[in-house]
Amino acid sequence: MVEPARVRSEIPWWKRTTVYQIYPRSFADASGDGIGDLEGIIDRLDYVQWLGLETIWLSPFFASPQADFGYDISDHFGIAPEYGSMEDCRRLIDEIHARGMKVVLDMVLNHTSDQHPWFVESRSARENPYRDFYIWRDGRKPYGAAPPNNWRSMLGGSGWHYDAQTDQWYWASFLPFQPDLNYRNPEVKRAMLDVVRHWLREGADGLRLDIFNAIYKDASFVDNPRSLRAIPTEDNPGGFFQKAIYTQNHPDTLAFARELRRVVDEFEDPPRFVVGEVFGSADLLREYCGPSGEGLNLVFLFKSLRTPFRAQAFRDLISEFESAFPEPLHPTYVFGNHDRPRQMERLGNSIARARLLAAFQMSVRGVPFVYYGDELGLSHHPMPRESAQDPIAERFGFIPKLLLPVLRKRGILTNRDQCRSPMPWHGGPHAGFASPDAPEPWLPLHPQSAIMNVAAQREDPRSVLAAYRRMLQQRRRSLALSSGTLELTDPPTDSRRVLAYRRVYEHDDGAETADVFLNFSKRSVSIDLRSLPRGTDLPMYSNLREAPVVARGRHVLRPWESAVVFRS
Ligand code: GLC
Repeated sequence: MVEPARVRSEIPWWKRTTVYQIYPRSFADASGDGIGDLEGIIDRLDYVQWLGLETIWLSPFFASPQADFGYDISDHFGIAPEYGSMEDCRRLIDEIHARGMKVVLDMVLNHTSDQHPWFVESRSARENPYRDFYIWRDGRKPYGAAPPNNWRSMLGGSGWHYDAQTDQWYWASFLPFQPDLNYRNPEVKRAMLDVVRHWLREGADGLRLDIFNAIYKDASFVDNPRSLRAIPTEDNPGGFFQKAIYTQNHPDTLAFARELRRVVDEFEDPPRFVVGEVFGSADLLREYCGPSGEGLNLVFLFKSLRTPFRAQAFRDLISEFESAFPEPLHPTYVFGNHDRPRQMERLGNSIARARLLAAFQMSVRGVPFVYYGDELGLSHHPMPRESAQDPIAERFGFIPKLLLPVLRKRGILTNRDQCRSPMPWHGGPHAGFASPDAPEPWLPLHPQSAIMNVAAQREDPRSVLAAYRRMLQQRRRSLALSSGTLELTDPPTDSRRVLAYRRVYEHDDGAETADVFLNFSKRSVSIDLRSLPRGTDLPMYSNLREAPVVARGRHVLRPWESAVVFRS
């Protein structure tokens, strides 16, 4: 295999990397107050390095009243005291870099907290110089008692909120305490691009853009057209019985993606990247990246969050992403995050399937995003909504409990606490999340923490953690897997439950190839390796076995086993 040093310089690092998402509040608590913090993350960086994920994305830890746990920022340049200080933040960035890893910070550009000094000023008087930093409108005439138009927030219900002090309504795409900034005001745009530059200067290698698809709203403020769709989906945002054409994915937002990219490209050494949280069809999402990659470097493709775990469904997913994101564009593969049901939910809580998913995610063409805890196969944590901390739980209190599992299957959580339980490090007090004398963690520990934890799985070669580590090692050693092209191939077997593809990386001295076979079934399947281009004695690398197996002719894949055959 070719050593990574020979990677062609034109393949940027961010296309080859693998990303680990840390939700700081839930990862590790060093200060002993029951809330995770930056110091705690620093203490656990060796773990991430050992695991083999190369880039860390940190959910927001900036100054915030924490009404939406950091997605409501009150000072873009400050650190929330419960997470640490600016000095801790710099140390965290340095410690990540010292391990040869990269760091992605979360930029909430669309809105601020209603406690942000800009909004406090803005709402104080119509004549205030900050009034126009946000989106204020008169109510519908003649009475003024109705919201300015029919636009709904991303969570349903009107996104307009009445403010009696100045007798006008402000717009919020998400929750009422997260007023949207007005990007049609050049001062706002300038100020927010300064925030972006500030964090790139501080050493961020990448930025994740929170609900980027909502940045521009239509300047005409005309009603959104009605639709029959109640539940928003990944490829069809809106829902709640309207098409969100004037509130999401506005052409001006697509143009802003390019403008933002130019700012990010001002920072060259090393090159930086942005990944957008956007919703829409694959074709629409591609537009955020621009036809030749001049927009956002990457966008999250969330369709994977509700793709059934079957060979044919995954084949179709690859097909769709490959045709929508051909080189120089690059897909992403996401199976969980801090808003979504844990991936184990869709895997029927099967460890064997989780190990196969690791094999898929680390061998397919696209940047893999792994949400903390998913590398352990942590399952959904059924927390009662009555005691929920998540502010959206209250809004969905009317949904009958019977429907919740159905929504979860479709990738929707109405109480996001359920995927944010503290990281289980070992079987001891507080699962190692905090010191034994610390108070109870901010969210209850996962009931499986005593057995499903890092310490236990590190020792077990059959664990989900071991499979992730093994697959990440394979990927790092192989240019075909990290940087190659992808072609779907016909699996050399009668079973329709095997997914096969070939990754090829061409370099100056030839090519490196990786043939990937994934057995999506509970039965052993025999594959015929004689159909492969050359050689019959081939070392196979599996998601289940430590040592490569040399296969002659036919090879048996165990249930939910993967195999990669490398040739160079
Ligand atoms: C994004 C975040 C989510 C947050 C929301 C509002 O969807 O991922 O956690 O609540 O935006 O900022």
